[in-house]
Amino acid sequence: MEKLTLDRFPAKVLASLDIQRAFIVSRLINSAERLQLFRLLHGKRMNAAAIGHALKIHKFYLKPFLDAFVSLGLLRKASDTYLTTPLADKYFIKERSIYWTRQYSKECALAYKALTVLEKALASGRSCKSITGLSKPTHIEAMKRDRRQAEDFTQMLFHLHQGVATALANYLDLSWHRAVLDVGGGSGVMSIALAKKNPHLRACILDIGPVCEIAARNTRRAGVSARVKTLTGDMRRRLPEDFDVIMFCDVGPVSQQLLMTAFKCLPAHGLVVLADRYLSPDGTKPLDRLLEHFVGSSFGLATWKDMVQAMRSCGFQTVKARNVYQDVWFITGVKPTSQATE
Ligand SMILES: C[S@@+](CC[C@H](N)C(=O)[O-])C[C@H]1O[C@@H](n2cnc3c(N)ncnc32)[C@H](O)[C@@H]1O
Repeated sequence: MEKLTLDRFPAKVLASLDIQRAFIVSRLINSAERLQLFRLLHGKRMNAAAIGHALKIHKFYLKPFLDAFVSLGLLRKASDTYLTTPLADKYFIKERSIYWTRQYSKECALAYKALTVLEKALASGRSCKSITGLSKPTHIEAMKRDRRQAEDFTQMLFHLHQGVATALANYLDLSWHRAVLDVGGGSGVMSIALAKKNPHLRACILDIGPVCEIAARNTRRAGVSARVKTLTGDMRRRLPEDFDVIMFCDVGPVSQQLLMTAFKCLPAHGLVVLADRYLSPDGTKPLDRLLEHFVGSSFGLATWKDMVQAMRSCGFQTVKARNVYQDVWFITGVKPTSQATE
């Protein structure tokens, strides 16, 4: 999925924005996403009153709200009707799933709220979310309680991670491996890509119950359910054995303890795989990972070098780190036979 970065906007629109106003613009776009304005207008034109009625927007704000999007190049005005521009169609309809729209726009709205106390957070070291009382329940608890939330989050990632899943399947040589444990495997996007690329391989998606149900549906739809199963569990408690590949893709910080558990569960020559957007060794890239830190991302600030070091100190050998796809790093390590040394 391509990101709608600022450079995609018409130059004259950007030239009219100062950085503080960019915050308001960002919030307006977020609001349009939450209300699903672009989806409402996709392929049809409507007048302001009809839009206001459909999206429950008060007349005090209605026209300025719509006209701001005309000014931004996301809507077009034709006599008294509004329609989407190709820019809005591309970034908000064609490249975004409905799950992304619902989930990501909700997360963004929480981030704006959290950021109102940024200075307090900077001074205290506490998270913005905990200062504003936004941090409960945790993401996992929310998904356990609310199926719609589990579906939006999981299927958002199913769409978002297609590119990285294909890249991972092309990168890993699994011709000599037989079974992958996909820890925190979510929608199953990675396991499905690996299973399609390696017809001999079986995989198991370990995740919480509601997410496993969604993953099972995805594996059936992908035609790989005979080889890709799900397992409800908690990665912090224990990992099942009988897998010669253990994979952690975008599951937040992978602690030394978790890596050690993976090491113990793997047979000799077993492979561990990490895939995530780790920071550069100097901590300055990727920018959006740094920015997430201020709105309560649970990922932490591990660099890819930290993870290489952590793998080595658990005993893994032949540790390799490669930046193969966008800003995602694939880090692999092999469990040696007991006599082998690096
Ligand atoms: C950001 S998603 C990534 C999903 C998938 N690996 C991918 O790359 O698309 C993280 C997943 O880890 C799961 N998860 C988080 N903590 C977990 C735990 N303690 N035990 C099992 N699954 C967990 C979440 O439910 C979620 O599906």
